[in-house]
Amino acid sequence: MAIVEELKALHADTLAAIEAAADTTALDEVRVRVVGKSGTLTAYLRNMGAIAKEERATVGKAVNQVRNAVEEALEARKKALATAELEASIDAAAVDITLPGRVQQLGTRHLINRVSEEICDVFLGLGYTVATGPEVETDYYNFTALNAPADHPSRSMQDTFYVRDLSGDEAAVRGESDVLLRTQTSGVQVHCMEDQELPIYIVAPGKVFRRDVADPSHLPQFTQIEGLVIDKGITFGDLKGTLDYFCKAVFGSERKTRFRAHYFPFTEPSAEVDVSCGVCHGEGCRMCKGTGWLEILGCGMVDPHVLEMSGIDPEVYSGFAFGVGVERVACLKYNVPDLRLLLQGDMRFLRQF
Ligand code: DAH
Repeated sequence: MAIVEELKALHADTLAAIEAAADTTALDEVRVRVVGKSGTLTAYLRNMGAIAKEERATVGKAVNQVRNAVEEALEARKKALATAELEASIDAAAVDITLPGRVQQLGTRHLINRVSEEICDVFLGLGYTVATGPEVETDYYNFTALNAPADHPSRSMQDTFYVRDLSGDEAAVRGESDVLLRTQTSGVQVHCMEDQELPIYIVAPGKVFRRDVADPSHLPQFTQIEGLVIDKGITFGDLKGTLDYFCKAVFGSERKTRFRAHYFPFTEPSAEVDVSCGVCHGEGCRMCKGTGWLEILGCGMVDPHVLEMSGIDPEVYSGFAFGVGVERVACLKYNVPDLRLLLQGDMRFLRQF
């Protein structure tokens, strides 16, 4: 029978096409072409009515056989292709565990923090405690309570960032704000004198801000450590002994110190302290600009009027105070020529310390 022969050929062709389908999309095309709604095999079933009655059973049986065989082959091929596709996608996404790993860069403690802690540690060893104060401060604590009232010329020694008050307060709107970014940690002295029991032995590390352009020896934000001692019978001798001990602890026991008379509004007498140059040992070199000495801090005996303003009786108590620039100490200790290097976050620089 011609039709049965045709069906055999269709069967063979379809099985070959199924085998040749390279992926599930190609396989689906074969399915649609042969057993889909208008597929070639489906057409035989549709046209059954046109076949002679006596042949219908034989042809029908042959069509069904071919259809079953084709559907079975489609199903088997579909499974095989799906498995292969899944495996390929897993392979593509696989991690190559034989590749060398990427090294994570470990950070280091920043030099500013290290030196700051080192300085505080020297004083903790002497029985001091660490105090802190606000970075956004009022005019009173930053200047007035430190003997620099509004019209005092010493205020212009420190270019100041004032904080604009947006509350609508008229004076603030005119730019006469009394809130500012502290220019010195000395305001912490006042907070401590107001809040703490006597005697006081504190160091206060923290950030300070000045309206300065960054250059090798200035930064608009830097770190200071304030020191304050208030007790009965404190003399300039105590100040000298303490700060000489501090300089030797930080820079080395062979270093010398020198006290030069200076002016600060809140101390009387006041001094600046120099430490002998570690590069030339006093001979004079580029590091110390030929002087043999490096200036490292300001200090003095707390002015009796400052004690009085904070409610301490200067007839009973006396004290000394000092302020150290941490970045400056760090640079002098490690011969860093430019303060700005400390703030650039360059790991090649920072990792050296
Ligand atoms: N506050 C001063 C400054 O920033 C440094 C200073 C000097 C602090 C003398 C003191 C001091 O406590 O007694 O320039």
